[in-house]
Amino acid sequence: MKKILVTGATGQIGLELTIALRNKYGAENVLAAGHKRPALTELTQSGPYYRLDVRDASALHQIVETHNVDTIFHLASLLSAVAEQNPQQAWDVNINGLINVLETSRTHQCALFFPSSIAAFGPKTPPLDTPQDTIQRPTTIYGITKVSGELLCNYYHHRFGVDARGLRYPGLISSKTLPGGGTTDYAVDIFYAAIKAQHYECFLRADTQLDMMYMPDAIDAAIHLMSADSKQLTHRNAFNVTAMSFTPHQLATEIQKHIPQFTIAYNVDPLRQAIADSWPRHMNDSAAKAEWGWQAQFDLPAMVEDMLEKITLK
Ligand code: SER
Repeated sequence: MKKILVTGATGQIGLELTIALRNKYGAENVLAAGHKRPALTELTQSGPYYRLDVRDASALHQIVETHNVDTIFHLASLLSAVAEQNPQQAWDVNINGLINVLETSRTHQCALFFPSSIAAFGPKTPPLDTPQDTIQRPTTIYGITKVSGELLCNYYHHRFGVDARGLRYPGLISSKTLPGGGTTDYAVDIFYAAIKAQHYECFLRADTQLDMMYMPDAIDAAIHLMSADSKQLTHRNAFNVTAMSFTPHQLATEIQKHIPQFTIAYNVDPLRQAIADSWPRHMNDSAAKAEWGWQAQFDLPAMVEDMLEKITLK
């Protein structure tokens, strides 16, 4: 990884991943790209930023060629709930964008990171100890784009030798970036509500158990996987990874240990509840552990303590 391009760099993972990559590989060697007009933020002030719609194949090609990019972290994507509001646009951005990135990777011999998700599974998948290799019949458009993306990445690897690798991320929790239109967003919103109002109204049922991960682990996982020896990888697209698995009730109980007056109520959104109910509750990530040494640092108590500390300081 000498010259890196991050698409979707203003997004939930993109911002923190770009900063981490700049710290590790040098600011001038990590190009951030996003579809938004650049504001003066940590992202645009710490290194190069390009405005890019990943559906524009020639603009993407030009950035990669001009800067001799050798690795792409392709994060530009619509998340689950917002994708359900506009399935055609979700397919266009998530799949046509990915195909452009795969084609550019093929012609310029770039390594490629593509994030998949727990959403790549569906109601017929075993929900507990979900195996690495199992039935994948997602019922959301977001999940359909993720499982298609996994298959496309593997296809480009086998057919054209593109070094494409990916992770099936669980819900991601960050103290820096707000998620945009996901089903697991409650696990971030709850911290802001707990600090500001000591009360949170949750859009998922109290007993909705889902896999989750704190953002520092998610960033480490992506960099670690892309640095792994290719010969060690049997699976590529995409590895199950998880750090913790909890329900809204369990998360609220952990927050109450720090803010005893905190209360939670439930006002279930049927759309997001149906999405969550179609996803696994806890994945088995032993293939990631065995093939490239994946290990999470943050469990539920450590994540809650760090989130409360960082958000209180904001
Ligand atoms: N966190 C994502 C979402 O809720 C899942 O990949 O959409």
